[in-house]
Amino acid sequence: MTNKKRVHLLGFIQNGVNSHATGMWRNARDKVNWDWRRPPYWQHMGQTMERGFFDAMFIADELAPYSNVDGKSDECVKWAVQCPVHEPSTIVPIITTATKHLGVGVTLSTAFEHPYSMVRRLSSLDHLSYGRVAWNVVSSYSKSEWNAYGADMATRYDRYARMEEYMEVCYKLWDSWEEDAIIADQVSGIYADPTKVHEVDHQGEFFKCKGRSFVCRSPQGRPVLWQAGSSDRGRDFAAKHAEAIFAVHPTVERMREYTNDLNHRLQATFNREPGSVKRIYGLQTCVAETRTEAQEKWERIKANIPLEGALAWISGHFGPDFTKFKPDDLIQDIEIPGIQGLFESMLHSKGGAPVTVKEGALYYAQGMGMPLACGTAKDIADQIEYYMDEGGADGFMLAATYTPGCYEEFVDYVVPELQRRGRLRTEYRHNTLRENLLEPDDETPSINTIDLTARKSRTGT
Ligand SMILES: Cc1cc2nc3c(=O)[nH]c(=O)nc-3n(C[C@H](O)[C@H](O)[C@H](O)COP(=O)(O)O)c2cc1C
Repeated sequence: MTNKKRVHLLGFIQNGVNSHATGMWRNARDKVNWDWRRPPYWQHMGQTMERGFFDAMFIADELAPYSNVDGKSDECVKWAVQCPVHEPSTIVPIITTATKHLGVGVTLSTAFEHPYSMVRRLSSLDHLSYGRVAWNVVSSYSKSEWNAYGADMATRYDRYARMEEYMEVCYKLWDSWEEDAIIADQVSGIYADPTKVHEVDHQGEFFKCKGRSFVCRSPQGRPVLWQAGSSDRGRDFAAKHAEAIFAVHPTVERMREYTNDLNHRLQATFNREPGSVKRIYGLQTCVAETRTEAQEKWERIKANIPLEGALAWISGHFGPDFTKFKPDDLIQDIEIPGIQGLFESMLHSKGGAPVTVKEGALYYAQGMGMPLACGTAKDIADQIEYYMDEGGADGFMLAATYTPGCYEEFVDYVVPELQRRGRLRTEYRHNTLRENLLEPDDETPSINTIDLTARKSRTGT
């Protein structure tokens, strides 16, 4: 038993050819003998993360290719800047069927889907996974998404106002079926007690919903709620609703600032316990047996990044067309229409020193503004411990470089080192993602809450 804080690990990925390090699809080690469009790739990715005792695979998403360069998406298509990207929830059952403990976080936008079908989909996935699903709640920050759906883009303020009500409807629907609503009495023929399946009657500003949820209560009741909003409004939303947040900060000082800010909001505004929301920070890693080898590998990875693709990506994530600036222009500290928190990670990538457009774009394209941990397993474990102890991180969203190799290497090299230091679990103690993610560090093994016998007979495992 150790009283050191244990790390939560997640693999950060998209259901696409290239995730969060631009140009990785052309790396000689990327997807060798794997096709990302087919189930075996996702099964292997899930099994690799489970072998490393990750909490979850976390699937990012957006709804359309970015069209911020000259108002077109040509550059994103040309350089595979998060394009193509397939629908994220389709791979959830593939991953959870191939694993027993790994959770899956899925990013689904509230912008164009009614809460009724969102709840139906997420609760169905929670059932199919035996309670291992998380939902990354987003509202579509990119104009291209709104164009694709033929709608006028709402302001940040309106998106959050609408999302507040969205959550209200979701909570009502998730609570529609009480835990003991299903009787299934074959003698009387009564399957469920209608007095315990409540009809939702919501007549709000943005949504109307009248009816019972169509999905009976799922193992977790509702998916683990995840949020990555980073503006002032976004941080409040996260402090109110989230069980875990995902943020990117290039320095330990900014991690600490964020940690303190979130804890303050939790306590002062939402009457929640400081520390009760898991803080999962982004980290890009590159591991090898020696520092020289790791550095050489990292240089090869960076050589894959096309500047044009990097500029198209920051234009897509932040809004302005960055190809219209000179490469040596300095990036200004402004409010942008896109992802404010990630913009700030690029802005602070040199620890507060001015950053040019070219520097910012190339830095961002290495791993979405995440700090880099490059070196031996010991070096990376040191950095992880430092961010946990000094920055308040509870865990890390590990961005992909080449796949599945980057996760295989992390699991083979870094995971045993973290376990040796008492920083990472050596077994999964629970069945649901929520229980594994939120378990106290000093918790002793608990009694399983899901009927494992039923599970074994069905899966044959
Ligand atoms: C680390 C991080 C990851 C994010 N991932 C996604 C994503 O996969 N899909 C998406 O639509 N938005 C994503 N976002 C956007 C946010 O969830 C949020 O909608 C956006 O930042 C606008 O809110 P804000 O102005 O409060 O930051 C991400 C944001 C951050 C900071």
